[in-house]
Amino acid sequence: MRLLIGLAFITIIFCQQQHKFNPEFLNLISTGTGLGTARDAIQAVLQLLEDLKNANEELDRKADKAFQEYEGGVLNDCAAFTGIMKENNESLQKNSEDLEAVDDKIAQTTDYLNWNEKRRKSNDMKLEDLAEQRCEANSLFIDALRDYREALNVLEWVNGDLQLKEQNAFLQKEETQEYTSKLALYTNMVDHKEVFSQVEVSQEDQAAQVVSEIVGKVQGLISKIQEHIKTLEEQEITSANDFVDYRRNLLNEQVLLKQEYDSRLKFLNSLEDDKELAQDVVSQCDKILGNTQRILQQTQNAYNQQKAKYVMEKQKRHEENQIIIEITMLYHQKVAQAEEFLQKKGV
Ligand SMILES: *[C@@H]1O[C@H](CO)[C@@H](O)[C@H](O)[C@H]1NC(C)=O
Repeated sequence: MRLLIGLAFITIIFCQQQHKFNPEFLNLISTGTGLGTARDAIQAVLQLLEDLKNANEELDRKADKAFQEYEGGVLNDCAAFTGIMKENNESLQKNSEDLEAVDDKIAQTTDYLNWNEKRRKSNDMKLEDLAEQRCEANSLFIDALRDYREALNVLEWVNGDLQLKEQNAFLQKEETQEYTSKLALYTNMVDHKEVFSQVEVSQEDQAAQVVSEIVGKVQGLISKIQEHIKTLEEQEITSANDFVDYRRNLLNEQVLLKQEYDSRLKFLNSLEDDKELAQDVVSQCDKILGNTQRILQQTQNAYNQQKAKYVMEKQKRHEENQIIIEITMLYHQKVAQAEEFLQKKGV
């Protein structure tokens, strides 16, 4: 502004054309009243130019100082924001890891719960199948036992009958056939053919001996069948006991599985709560990080703008001072030329 006033003043003094002088200017220098006044006026212009230049330089120093202070503060702020952003980011990373860990645990627990459910279902089916199998085995056992007992009854009857015959030492062929046909029903249990096959051959002579031999064999069969029945019963008891043990173990497992299932289900519910919390924390961290980033960016933008403005104004002041220096030189020249001109004219 001051420069503009100065320039306006100077254009009044100078002529538009290079080698002509403004008449008022010549007037001012040449009037009788005023050589001293003229010199004062010239001095005043030079002083004004000097003042303008000094004022500009002073402005420049002040601007430098102000900008340095501003820059120091702003760079400090940026460093602080960068540090805060780094911390926020670390906290975001850490909390994201926590969230992932919770997710992993949820997946593991869900897998376990699915396995547990499947296992219990398959145990239930096993228990059902077992009950069926046991039922079948039991009824087979009962059938077998009945067959053996019937066979035993027949053999005991044969035995009793034979003992009567033994006293007579006489055995009819029809009688052996009757025994045979009765025992034929139990061919899978009693090998009666061996017992009765000799009867036909030897019944004429040595009849008593044959009968007593047969009695011995029949008694042998009886004790064999009794042995079978005993074994069968023992086997049945063992297998029934095994079944009971097996079933009890399975039922125990079912109870333990259910307990574990319930406790892991509770854990899963607490994990869901943890997850919700962790998600909240992560999204908070994310927001805070975003805000810090934005503030940092805004501060940096403002700094860049300020710096550009500062550099531009500094440049402008420099250019202005160059102009003032040129004008001062020019002014000295013109004054010298005017004085020379007036001297030649003999004023
Ligand atoms: C946060 O840190 C991670 C790695 O630690 C990096 O990849 C990411 O760029 C950082 N983000 C910010 C906004 O600093």
